Amino acid sequence: MCGIISYCGKREAIPILMDGLKKLEYRGYDSAGFAVVENGNNVVVKTVGKVSNLEAKRAGLQINSSFGIAHTRWATHGKPSEVNSHPHTDCHNKISVVHNGIIENYLEIKEELIKKNHTFKSETDTEIIAHLIEDNFSGDLEVAVLKSVKRLVGTFGLAILHADIDHQIIIVKRGSPIIIGIGEDEYFAASDSNAISAYTNRMIYLSDDEMAVLNSNSYYIKDMRNQILDKQIEILEEEIFKEDKKGYEHYMLKEIYEQPESIENAFRGRLIEGEGVSKLGGLEPVIDRLKNIKKFIIVSCGTSYYAGLLGRYIFETLTELNVETELASEFRYRRLHLDENVAVLALSQSGETADTLAAIKEAKRKGALLLGIVNMVGSAIAQITDAGVYNHAGPEIGVASTKIYTSQLVILTLIALLIGRYQSVSFIEGSEIINAIRKLPSQVSEILKNTEQIEEIALKYSKYRDFLYIGRLFNYPTALEGALKLKEISYIHAEGYAAGEMKHGPISLIDQNFPTVAIAPNDLTLDKMISNIQEIKARDGKIISVTNADAHRIIEMSDDAFTVPRTIDILQPILNIIPLQLFAYYIARNRGCDIDKPRNLAKSVTVE
Ligand code: F6R
Repeated sequence: MCGIISYCGKREAIPILMDGLKKLEYRGYDSAGFAVVENGNNVVVKTVGKVSNLEAKRAGLQINSSFGIAHTRWATHGKPSEVNSHPHTDCHNKISVVHNGIIENYLEIKEELIKKNHTFKSETDTEIIAHLIEDNFSGDLEVAVLKSVKRLVGTFGLAILHADIDHQIIIVKRGSPIIIGIGEDEYFAASDSNAISAYTNRMIYLSDDEMAVLNSNSYYIKDMRNQILDKQIEILEEEIFKEDKKGYEHYMLKEIYEQPESIENAFRGRLIEGEGVSKLGGLEPVIDRLKNIKKFIIVSCGTSYYAGLLGRYIFETLTELNVETELASEFRYRRLHLDENVAVLALSQSGETADTLAAIKEAKRKGALLLGIVNMVGSAIAQITDAGVYNHAGPEIGVASTKIYTSQLVILTLIALLIGRYQSVSFIEGSEIINAIRKLPSQVSEILKNTEQIEEIALKYSKYRDFLYIGRLFNYPTALEGALKLKEISYIHAEGYAAGEMKHGPISLIDQNFPTVAIAPNDLTLDKMISNIQEIKARDGKIISVTNADAHRIIEMSDDAFTVPRTIDILQPILNIIPLQLFAYYIARNRGCDIDKPRNLAKSVTVE
């Protein structure tokens, strides 16, 4: 949520800042702005809306500067308006601040500063930081920032400059991600490495309560006690460099089509055929502890939560563990019994979702083993967990998660198989699972070869206002995820339901204007799904099914059917979700929606 980029060096700063903002736009697109210092003046330019608006505005300006800070916003405090856009400045327009996160005690500080005659322009929490630094400033920006930050309660990634201090940018981190890029006599800072990876692959991942001071030919990192730290520079892998749409109309479509590869990356080098088991290097340091775990809790949000729900069913099928799945935003407030016999597994694409982070911090306090399945290497969740597995799925830029969901499901299966093989899963069963996993990439490719039918059916249903999605057992989470995809990118109301729950309420919604998407593979739930579909047909409801070619009765009963290849029950949802991702995508496209940047959303949610 909110993207930050900074540059300090010898090149023109604005093109670098604009390029970074475009790459960070997935984090928020309510407004954008930058501040650079030109001949000792703090020049601030900002606009409401997308980065392209800022680009248009700055095209008409002649500004030369080689250091500056920039921001793309997802609004928390104060509506999206120019005055609420970042950077925020102090009373004398000397100090500029960009901020990702939330300052919880901003009202208290604001009142104090107003009494000291500071004048505020915006409704934001961020503006108090500029004024607080101004209040503490007596010639040394570092000292003023250190003093000010100690007053702040909340989360922040900050970039700060002062017009009177040539080529100095101060970066501070608590809770929100910030990465420092080290170039040759030039330094960068950004909310994620993708924004700066075109300029350098040498990165420093700041930890909480660390501050980086960037100058034109040197940098150093300190803690809040003003001690210099010796932080390691990490080399970013080539594969996560330079991301573009590769000819696809949207990132979401590209990412849907990348699934054969991202699924393969999730299991590559992680299957031992000869032993019918998986091998996960990231879990090896904790394997003895893992074998003795009594309870397993999966915590996550949104799409990752739905992957976790399915993970629970997979774990229950393959292990003897007592497994729960919890919404991270609820988990942290509950009075759960957690100790060293409990493993808490965080699922997160971004590795920085604030609710998930808060949940695992709570679990850590109570001594639980912390595990993660994370896509973003070096992210906060990856750092805090005791052990974990990376998705290696490449960046997911489309706000609606697609390839990470299927990748998470593969990795959850690998972890369940690993534990299950120490328990009662036999070599034969393990081998069958491995064979099925290996076939997934080609089965997904097969679905992706025949998308015209999905496109046609989507066109037929694009004008409906409400949809019900139903599924049973392994495909109950598929129903939830299918509905989420539709609502978030097309703004159509869609509800996911356990098919058996329909008769307890939602069936009253059904009529000819309320179609149902029934996820009904040819598995042990087939007969019950047939009954549910009949109940809907009896009430004039339309049925779009996701099923297998040999489930003839489902196909006959459906108004429209997407058929997908058959695999074992625990993996079938990976194939079933693909047509539903595309169905949502084509409907949103037909409705002219902004698919990669749906309104009110941001890719990584760093506020609770
Ligand atoms: C929906 C979506 C979100 C995320 C959720 C968690 O398509 O992308 O619901 O799944 O915000 O994000 P991560 O996985 O980054 O923790």
